Amino acid sequence: MNININSGGIGAQVLNLDLSKPLDEDEYSQLEIALGTHSVLCFPAQRLNSTQLKEFSQRFGTLEINVANMFQDTLHPEVMILSNKVDEKGEPIGFKDAGQDWHTDMSYSKDIAFSNVLYGIEIPYRDGKPLGNTAFCSTRKAYAAIPIDLKERLKGMTVTHDFAKFWDNMRKRPGSLRAELTPSQRAAKPPVSHPIFLKHPITGDTVLYANPGYAIRINELDEAESERILQTLFELQLRPEFQYEHRWRVGDVLMWDNISTLHNAVADYKADEHRHIMRCQVMADRYFPRGTLAMKA
Ligand code: SIN
Repeated sequence: MNININSGGIGAQVLNLDLSKPLDEDEYSQLEIALGTHSVLCFPAQRLNSTQLKEFSQRFGTLEINVANMFQDTLHPEVMILSNKVDEKGEPIGFKDAGQDWHTDMSYSKDIAFSNVLYGIEIPYRDGKPLGNTAFCSTRKAYAAIPIDLKERLKGMTVTHDFAKFWDNMRKRPGSLRAELTPSQRAAKPPVSHPIFLKHPITGDTVLYANPGYAIRINELDEAESERILQTLFELQLRPEFQYEHRWRVGDVLMWDNISTLHNAVADYKADEHRHIMRCQVMADRYFPRGTLAMKA
């Protein structure tokens, strides 16, 4: 395989690797290091079915089955459908607004996510340009940019992440199909705390782990200071120089590391401009055995 690093310093293109075939140990190790180092990997011109996507993804960790039990591939519940298409009765066939704001997948969970693996089946185009890009920010570059005195102050602190924050914000958008979370759904996903800075399990460097989608409170600070510092950290990590935007092509497999990035599915396409993607969510259990991350704070 050839790994070509993107010019902006975030992400790489992996060429000459057919993901429909099993990876050997050497290929797996090269990809794991490349993913930790470059944060986002694109494998263009793949031809996969849901079984092959699942088999490739699960080499990197346990696959999450979404608790909503909706929009799953008929063969594999681990493969979720992201789509704005509807069936012959006009019913949605996939999540149409998944991830459409800045967030880190599953930071709200005691056991966090490592990677997302998406396979682009239909990509909308307008005037020759792809729509529905996936945008990324580097939490590694964000950490490096935090002023030294603030880094020292926050060292050892923890952040509360709440699933309901993102969900409730998305519900406010015009046309949202998201129902209000019931008390039992809220109770099933209670807020969790994680260290504000994480040591990256592959590269060993430090990243900021506090994303605007789910982070609600720096636990060791009073509410006003927590709010002020969180806003500072949110603005800092979204600086344009820390961003990379993936422009989709049909057949792309896009894989990213949720520890060294946050992401945003850009919602710039209309209902009749179809975007249809298969997605697997890989948990970080290979690096943080279940239940151990919170103990590191
Ligand atoms: C996600 O947050 O996993 C969805 C990203 C995308 O659809 O681009």
